[in-house]
Amino acid sequence: MICVIRRYHVTNVMAFLIVTMIMVNLYALAVVIGGRAIPESRNAPHDQKKSDQVIFSSNITSTRFVALEDGSLHIFSNLKLKSPNLYSVLDAIKRRYNELQEENRTAGHYLRVVNRIKRALSLSSHSGNKIDADNFWSTAAGWPFPMDSNQFQSMGEILWFANRAQILQAKNSKRGTQLKVEVVLEGGQVGLFKPAWYPHGVVINGTAYGGKDRHFGEIAAFYLNQILGYNSAPITLGRRVNLSREILNFATDQLKETFFRDRDNNLCFYGVCYYCKSTDPVCAQGDNIDGALILLLDKKLRIIANPWRRTYKEKIQASWETDISFCSTVLKDSNLSKRNEALLDVVAVAIFDFLVGNADRHHFEMYADVKEQPTSKSHSRSIFLIDNGKSFGNSDEDYIDILAPLYQCCKIRRSLFLTLNKFRGVLGKSLEAISNFDTLSPLLTKHHLSALDRRLLIVLATVQVCLDRYSQDEVIL
Ligand SMILES: *[C@@H]1O[C@H](CO)[C@@H](O)[C@H](O)[C@H]1NC(C)=O
Ligand SMILES: *[C@@H]1O[C@H](CO)[C@@H](O)[C@H](O)[C@H]1NC(C)=O
Ligand SMILES: *[C@@H]1O[C@H](CO)[C@@H](O)[C@H](O)[C@H]1NC(C)=O
Ligand SMILES: *[C@@H]1O[C@H](CO)[C@@H](O)[C@H](O)[C@H]1NC(C)=O
Ligand SMILES: *[C@@H]1O[C@H](CO)[C@@H](O)[C@H](O)[C@H]1NC(C)=O
Repeated sequence: MICVIRRYHVTNVMAFLIVTMIMVNLYALAVVIGGRAIPESRNAPHDQKKSDQVIFSSNITSTRFVALEDGSLHIFSNLKLKSPNLYSVLDAIKRRYNELQEENRTAGHYLRVVNRIKRALSLSSHSGNKIDADNFWSTAAGWPFPMDSNQFQSMGEILWFANRAQILQAKNSKRGTQLKVEVVLEGGQVGLFKPAWYPHGVVINGTAYGGKDRHFGEIAAFYLNQILGYNSAPITLGRRVNLSREILNFATDQLKETFFRDRDNNLCFYGVCYYCKSTDPVCAQGDNIDGALILLLDKKLRIIANPWRRTYKEKIQASWETDISFCSTVLKDSNLSKRNEALLDVVAVAIFDFLVGNADRHHFEMYADVKEQPTSKSHSRSIFLIDNGKSFGNSDEDYIDILAPLYQCCKIRRSLFLTLNKFRGVLGKSLEAISNFDTLSPLLTKHHLSALDRRLLIVLATVQVCLDRYSQDEVIL
């Protein structure tokens, strides 16, 4: 990053002028198109200071805030000025963020939530001698259940059992493009095992959606999802397995063929998938490997494309990246905006993904059957967040463009807004307390935990910027 900044400093004046002219033209065009988007701030983009320039050319494939040591945010963008009013939105968010940071507001009644989850998770030592697998799995099948339900009190036991249940079958999963093992646990429950590719402290560089799945991120995302009252991620836990005894022994032939021992006698495998290759195996330490175990629950889901998905091409931008009024112009006639509730769901998911740093939500899994949807208490009622593996890759970077549904539509569900306020300044600490119950804890580094609090404040700042333009009734629904 440092060298990118330095390069900007020596950018010649001519290039800067041309770029500024294009920017002014596009700015005018955007004003003509109009639409419901966050307004230009009066002085941007002309008052860009040297200290917070937009970086125009690099491999950055996400517009992002980078947190510097002194706590300030710098804006980085690859948008090459196609969207000058986007810059002013970011600038406004940044200013609001600085203001919020200076306020001495204490968090709300978050402890009630945290304590309730702690209580449920601490009921993890199963008392009776006889373990009835069916019992655990039939309770789990009812997930997502509300936090104030009796079922929720069984969460600790379900996790406890899932961590020990014998693996009876292991096969290569065809889901997605990355290596995953589909396992059948005693009692017939199916799960996905995502093995650990990285240590918990890894820093993923490059694109916002880069790197392989982070098993610890997948697990932490599940706990965070509960803390914030989304209840929209499948039950997920950390599990350490003896790869030889628990997986290889029960593996189908296809999967078995991809196992080998490396020079240090660690057991490795690479599976069969789009990105799987023998030169890029995942390896245990000796026989043991950590991973995220995700319980697959029998739900009817349908997959729909995220309107704010990325192009995954460095040089091609999606319409939401270049059109600040994407929410009103492009989505006007789509099925999504016909249902305000669905749009609020998408915003809620965007906020969650922004908090965990997941820039890879190209599709949503939606409940096919309305009757299956969780009750009104969930922040995202129709979307089930199955894949959270691209979370917590880089604690210094906040991919602000994940929040585009929020700053382009300027709508948020009231319950979510209240929840976020409740956890102001204490989200990292809360997640740490809850994830301590996981076998693989600590799941997240201190940097990731404090990034959560920073990002939560950025979300609140973004809502504030919306409130600067629209009435509270229009923004908080
Ligand atoms: C972009 O990435 C490619 C490969 O990842 C690298 O070769 C190239 O130097 C990078 N360009 C810039 C401007 O950093
Ligand atoms: C916030 O609290 C800190 C210490 O608790 C104090 O130093 C600071 O002046 C306060 N800021 C405001 C704006 O009240
Ligand atoms: C990312 O960059 C940092 C700093 O240059 C480096 O320490 C780290 O190993 C890199 N991460 C990966 C996964 O290559
Ligand atoms: C893993 O299981 C194998 C048997 O398949 C056993 O020989 C080995 O000692 C076990 N390793 C550990 C670390 O428990
Ligand atoms: C919108 O809804 C109609 C009817 O329900 C359906 O046929 C169509 O495929 C939907 N369009 C999109 C983009 O989902």
